[in-house]
Formats: sequence, C-alpha cells, structure tokens
Amino acid sequence: MSRRALLLGLTLLAGCSGRPSFDPATINAAPIGQGLPRGFLLGASTASHQVEGNNQNDWTDWETSSYPDGSPHIHDRSVSGIAADSWNRFDEDIALLKQLGANAYRFSVEWSRLEPEEGKWNEEAFARYRQWVQALRANGIEPNVTLHHFTLPRWVSAWGGWENPATVDAFARFSGKVAEELGEHVDWWGTINEPNVYAVFGYMDGVWPPGKQSTGIAAEVLARLLEAHARSAQEVRKFDTTDADGDGKASLIGLVHHVRVFQPATGSTTDTVVTGLTDSFFNQSVTEALRTGHISIFVPGEITIERDVPGLKGSADYLGINYYTRDHIRQDFSPSFSHKYVPEGRETNDLGWEIYPEGLYLFLKRYANLGVPLVVTENGMDDRTGERRPYFLRSHLYAVERAVAEGVPVLGYFHWSLMDNFEWAEGYEPRFGLFRVDWTAGQARQATPAVQAFRDVARNLGLTPTP
Ligand code: FCB
Repeated sequence: MSRRALLLGLTLLAGCSGRPSFDPATINAAPIGQGLPRGFLLGASTASHQVEGNNQNDWTDWETSSYPDGSPHIHDRSVSGIAADSWNRFDEDIALLKQLGANAYRFSVEWSRLEPEEGKWNEEAFARYRQWVQALRANGIEPNVTLHHFTLPRWVSAWGGWENPATVDAFARFSGKVAEELGEHVDWWGTINEPNVYAVFGYMDGVWPPGKQSTGIAAEVLARLLEAHARSAQEVRKFDTTDADGDGKASLIGLVHHVRVFQPATGSTTDTVVTGLTDSFFNQSVTEALRTGHISIFVPGEITIERDVPGLKGSADYLGINYYTRDHIRQDFSPSFSHKYVPEGRETNDLGWEIYPEGLYLFLKRYANLGVPLVVTENGMDDRTGERRPYFLRSHLYAVERAVAEGVPVLGYFHWSLMDNFEWAEGYEPRFGLFRVDWTAGQARQATPAVQAFRDVARNLGLTPTP
C-alpha cells in the first residue's frame, strides 16, 4: 500500500464514525426486491472445486497432506471428493435456480479439467461447460463465469504457481481459450476470485496451498494476480466477440474482490494506524490498482511494490464484491501487526464471523464512484440449522437497496451459495447453501428456509420462481 492509500484508508476510517445501524423491524416489514433496479441480476454463486466433484488439482493434493506437526490441512479431515456432484447434476442445479426465481448464476470453470496438461485442451470438458451455459441461457438464467477460483492445475503449481511469472502467460492463454469456446453464450466474466484472500491464506497465513508464510511473497502474489487479471481481461475481450444477451456488449469483465470491514478496537493511535494499514493492504490496494493502473503495495519493514501495469486501468467493466463480515483490530507485534477478533455479544455465523449487514452498505457506498458499476458476487453465512439465513439474506439485500436508493450503481446480487459445498480448509462442516446437501444420502439437495425468502425477493423484483 502506498502512503497515499494509507492516508485514504485512515480518512475512510475516520469517516466511518457515523456508521449506520439497521433496524430489524424495518427490514422485516420491507418489501425487499421492489427497490432493486430493472434488469437487476439476482442469483447464487458456486465454484468448481467446491461443488463439481472429482477435480485433480493443487487443492486435491493439499487435502490429503498435512502440516509438519501432523495436523490435517482440512479441519474436519475431509477431502473434496465428489463434493456436491454438480458435474453430473447440473440439470438438477438449474432446477434449483428456477425454484429460487434466480435470473443469474455465477460459477467457475476448472482450469485443471480444461487444460490437464500444458497446452492440451480437454474438448469433452469444454463441451460439458458449453452445455451448461446454453442450458442456463435457455432457462432465462444469465451465466457469470469465473476463470480462476483458487485452484491451479498441478502442472502450474509444480512450476511455482503464481510466484512464477509464466503463470500469468498461461492463465491469459487459458482465458482466451475459454472465451473463444464459451463466449457465444456468455457475456459476464470474472477473471480472478479474491486475489487478496488467495495471497493472504496461501502465502501469509499458510493455511491454503502452497502453505507459505511470507508477507513479502504474499504481496508479490497479490501484485501478480492483478497483472494476471489485466492480461486475462484483454484476452477475454479479444476472443468473446458475441453479444449473447443482446445488450450491445459482447463481454462484461469483472475482478472479484473480497472486502472486509476493519474497525479499530479502541480510539488509540496505534489501533487506528494498524487498522488503516490493514484496510489499505486488503481492501484498498486492489481497487486503487484498478482505478489508476498502478500497483502500489507497501508493507512496513517487508516490501514496497510500485508498478505500472499496462492494460490494468480500464480492465474491469464492473467490480465484483464478495462481502461477509467485519473484524475488530487491536495492534500487536505479530507479522500482521494486529489481533483480529469479534467482540463478545455480537451475532456471528457458525464459523464465528460477525454478521454485520451495514458493512455491505458501507462498501457499496465506498466504491460508488470507482467509475464502474458494482455487482455483489458473493454474500452468505454458515448457518448449520438454516434458520437464521432468511433474515441474513433480507438484511443484506436491504443494504443493497439502500445503496441503490442513494444512487450507487449496483447491477446484481449473488448469494453464496446455491448449495452446501466443500468450504476449503474448513471442509464439509460449514453450511452456506440455500439448498442443504445431504452428504450421506447421494448428495440430495433440500431447500432451507431461505429459499422461501429468496423467492419472495424474486417475485418482488418481477421474476417468476417455479411453483
Ligand atoms: C469466499 C470464497 C468462497 C467461499 C466463501 C465462504 O471467500 O470466495 O469460495 O469459500 O468465501
């Protein structure tokens, strides 16, 4: 993060003292959906490795290996295995989307399936994805296709994954190929899912592959992912020349950014400064790079990256926002300079993440003037009984409506997730699905109470869920 970004972060924090507070009674009484603009995309999200099943990639290897002290990489010791078996049940998944009344679906294509060896394309897998996007469109559901959602083919991880600049070239080529193969039916693309989360978990915290713990490498990887986004966007634009939905644009390309509210634990200068640093690195460096075309990342005592990236400015037609939670921050002397926690008494999801719908509103407002429209590409909660999700859904859509009413250009909302899935290092215990998946009974899908809430919103938006 540059000093300018740090200052901006601190200014934003200072400006956050008048934080909004939503009133549950108002949310419960609101006809949510009526305040969303015409043509709004209302849908759900998934990612290939989490739902398809039987993928063979760097994560497959991570799942079956362990930390040096012998503890498992996946908390509940599961492996992704056949996951939700979406590879074979895609028709069923489309029926779920129709039951929701969704008019959009965000999913990712699996690089390791499509290019199992460098330069060797798997035509069968392309044909399968082509069927999916055709079927979605035939059912009135706009596909939004993510090109990279955390997993890498083994041949890419073997040469060092995103630490190796060759991965940028390989990913650009892959992006062009997918755009060429699927572009006839796809207009909405996401290049890379959550560069910041990927860099922090894989290279700073070491809890995802490749399990490194170096702030400097994490910053380099973050920068490389932003470069890869720019290159990928160029290729998608070049190869997707068909306007599939008739809106006059052949492609709409986004970078999908994970945003997190960081709040200082106290009013002390140290907590405030560290919170500003964290916000700048995690939230702001990504959007500033998109806005200016210049990557500026500064981690005190570790690394400074100042780099102009050709094609980065103007690379995104929209910003995807994945929003889940807020962290409170107390300065300490750990590598991240901070202890992050949720204060006692706050409502959390079943993974312990604070539920804070106002944070989504704050981020939509923060990025209102970025120069591109916004799409909420993920938002959801681990709710193992499914009983709290209806209100979660309504309160976060209320945040969207409120931002829209204040003029923020938000084009869509995708709930994470369509169904329960393999939640990375947490395994199968968390349940984020609008539909519950029975892991012991043939991956059967069953509606949770939030399906009814979603259908009500869809109807209010003028969509027609199947009976
Ligand atoms: C996001 C990821 C997604 C899922 C949710 C819960 O950070 O993009 O794959 O794991 O968190």
